[in-house]
Amino acid sequence: MPETVLVTGGAGFIGSHTCVELLDHGYEVVTVDNYVNSSPQALDRVAKIARRPLTAAYDVDVRDRKALSEVFASHPVDAVIHFAAHKAVGESVSLPTEYYDTNVGGTCALLSVMREHRVHRLVFSSSCSVYGDAETVPLTEDSPVAPTNPYACTKLMCEHILQDVCARLSEMKVLALRYFNPVGAHPSGLLGEAPRGIPNNLMPYVAQVAVGRREKLSVFGDDYPTPDGTGVRDYIHVMDVAEGHRVAVEHLDDHTGMQVFNLGTGTGTSVLQLISAFSEVSRRPVPHQVVERRAGDVAALVADASAVATAWRWSTTRDLTAMCRDTWRFQELNPDGYSPDLVHAGPKTGELSCG
Ligand code: NAD
Ligand code: WQD
Repeated sequence: MPETVLVTGGAGFIGSHTCVELLDHGYEVVTVDNYVNSSPQALDRVAKIARRPLTAAYDVDVRDRKALSEVFASHPVDAVIHFAAHKAVGESVSLPTEYYDTNVGGTCALLSVMREHRVHRLVFSSSCSVYGDAETVPLTEDSPVAPTNPYACTKLMCEHILQDVCARLSEMKVLALRYFNPVGAHPSGLLGEAPRGIPNNLMPYVAQVAVGRREKLSVFGDDYPTPDGTGVRDYIHVMDVAEGHRVAVEHLDDHTGMQVFNLGTGTGTSVLQLISAFSEVSRRPVPHQVVERRAGDVAALVADASAVATAWRWSTTRDLTAMCRDTWRFQELNPDGYSPDLVHAGPKTGELSCG
């Protein structure tokens, strides 16, 4: 019997790529998403790329315990990957209650339903944002955590909850993955990041400038203590993030209890380096102008990626050129993201066809 993996937030940026990776490796995949930041169209594309359907896709809010319990009752769930969350740092400052409710409340609801159905294996989406203002890079999993915004607090709080649950229930097996900066897209150009409104993050903003949808990029500060003065980050291809989740599922039984891993490449890239790489790949100029630093930004965030390499004998393989090339392909083929006419406007719960 193939394993069944339930993926919350499965229609989202990272979730959709992970569903393809799981289908490609023979898993049965059930998704739960309320499409608050995604389109069910992404799931149709997942099935198209994988040339096999998802087992089921539910329009369910993870906080709705009754609906979630019905999903678990309908499938022999072996493991859960929990992506569903709100993720915009700035928005979390304006809407803290919504962020705690969805990110922390959603995780608690999921844990109680998992317990009810005796499902004990979980991969959790955490974030490098838990490290806050890092004094030195690269960051290991033992580097101090000091979240600086409500979003990052929700992720750290979920990690604490998972630690406590694992301490209480010896059968629990949890891997919390702290991703650095996921970017890129599926090489088919069918799946990618389709932010609603003005992008918060660098790569989708650069892509929209290159395609002519936005006039120019604001570079937030060039006086950081970095080689060219602009912020340095550890960009990781979303295909590597997806692969990392499939590998994590394969390693869930290595230990009981909870383990935390960074998911990054270990390589830092500055804003100017990323602009230059993108321009080269797209053969389009990326007009930009240096402005004031963005409040809350740090100079450099780079992972020490050696822990997963040692534990799973796995590491990322896609470089910055691949990240830019695949982002550009998705941007060119989907200049307005997933088509608005297909954006879901259906009932709150129920199964979608996705074959
Ligand atoms: P995303 O917004 O594209 O995906 C999240 C998905 O969860 C969306 O499909 C959304 O509709 C769904 N969702 C949100 N609230 C829900 C709810 N109450 N019930 C059901 N579904 C709900 O984001 P992403 O970039 O794919 O991120 C996935 C996960 O990874 C998130 O937990 C995020 O915090 C974490 N993460 C993302 C990044 C990043 O830069 N993209 C970095 C570190 C961690
Ligand atoms: C990258 C660099 C900016 C936009 C965020 C979240 C973090 C995690 C990953 C979820 C920085 C600069 C950006 C622009 C710019 N997500 N920049 N002009 O802030 O490192 O991390 O995504 O967990 O929690 O905070 O990513 O892409 O916003 O910024 O100059 O228009 O690009 O200053 O140096 P960040 P980012």
